[in-house]
Amino acid sequence: MLHTLSVPIIQAPMAGGVSTPKLAAAVSNAGGLGFLAGGYKTAEEMRKEIMTIRTLTDAPFGVNVFVPNEEDVDMEALLRYQQVLEKEAERFSATLGEAKWDDDDWEAKLSVLYEEKVPVVSFTFGCPSSEVISKFKDNGSFVIVTVTSKTEAQIAAQQGADALCVQGLEAGGHRATFRNDETADENVSLLVLLQQIREAVDLPLIAAGGIMHGRDIAAVLAAGASAAQLGTAFLRCPESGANPLHKNALIDLQFQATAVTRAFTGRPARGLVNRFLIEYDKLAPAAYPHIHHMTKHLRKAAAQASDPQMMSLWAGQGYRLAKDMPAGELVRLLMKEVKEVVEGMNRLL
Ligand SMILES: Cc1cc2nc3c(=O)[nH]c(=O)nc-3n(C[C@H](O)[C@H](O)[C@H](O)COP(=O)(O)O)c2cc1C
Repeated sequence: MLHTLSVPIIQAPMAGGVSTPKLAAAVSNAGGLGFLAGGYKTAEEMRKEIMTIRTLTDAPFGVNVFVPNEEDVDMEALLRYQQVLEKEAERFSATLGEAKWDDDDWEAKLSVLYEEKVPVVSFTFGCPSSEVISKFKDNGSFVIVTVTSKTEAQIAAQQGADALCVQGLEAGGHRATFRNDETADENVSLLVLLQQIREAVDLPLIAAGGIMHGRDIAAVLAAGASAAQLGTAFLRCPESGANPLHKNALIDLQFQATAVTRAFTGRPARGLVNRFLIEYDKLAPAAYPHIHHMTKHLRKAAAQASDPQMMSLWAGQGYRLAKDMPAGELVRLLMKEVKEVVEGMNRLL
């Protein structure tokens, strides 16, 4: 599947309204692989997006879903966090959402992906059972599991994944770790992780995390990846559904760094350092998706009040290099940059 792409560039699935069918179709039409994000929406909303993208491209595309995990939550710590956030919510005349667990419509989403025979299906936050994976493969889908460590890569290979998306520490958005506890994340950067996993499993690898320029794509291909997956690089494209405040924050000098935090959702995720992240990083327990539900109305109210200091501004470490240009043009520019690097290296050798 990856070798049939005319361009080894994958647009990362980005939940929360960023990965629109228009964005994914533009990347697929440019010869890469565009992704829809199934996370946070209902199975039927996801089906509608699949139907829409099919009107925009005949090329293959992917859909990503979150694997549900039920883990122990420190309810006292969650309650303490809730009480503190209530004061913030009041400032925006918002109410906190119910801090509850749910499975993000998992079974219904699997059924839709199966019925719609989606060309590429990818999973994050865990690895589905070998039964689920083989059912998709038998149905003609190419199955990708996102991993952040050698151990996770070995599990995904055993369960029968066709390829692995290797997510380095530099990546924007949620860490894809299978578990959500303090020891789950080894925090390895992309080039090191690619080599650790390359030695352990014999599957095509897709590199993700901090890739913003053709030079970075050339680097991960040289390091053994079959394709590069870029998220933050596509955030400012006109087809991206990212909130305009989020798009602007990427180039706003008041934001000077990214950090990984559980403050917004209860699961580690990398975003621009803003007031919310600084004030609540230490208070937020590991409780996903409880804290996502708890803070979602507050974050929406902050966006409506044009206050980026209280929004989740997911971004990878290379955020400053994100360009405001149509996604298809960006794919072509990235490939031009890759070719220049390869030609330059050929001259050196
Ligand atoms: C705004 C945003 C939303 C994201 N949402 C998802 C998602 O729904 N599913 C997923 O597997 N990865 C998600 N990611 C992570 C990407 O798949 C990928 O690992 C990351 O974007 C790569 O790093 P980069 O942003 O530095 O390119 C998201 C990333 C961003 C920036």
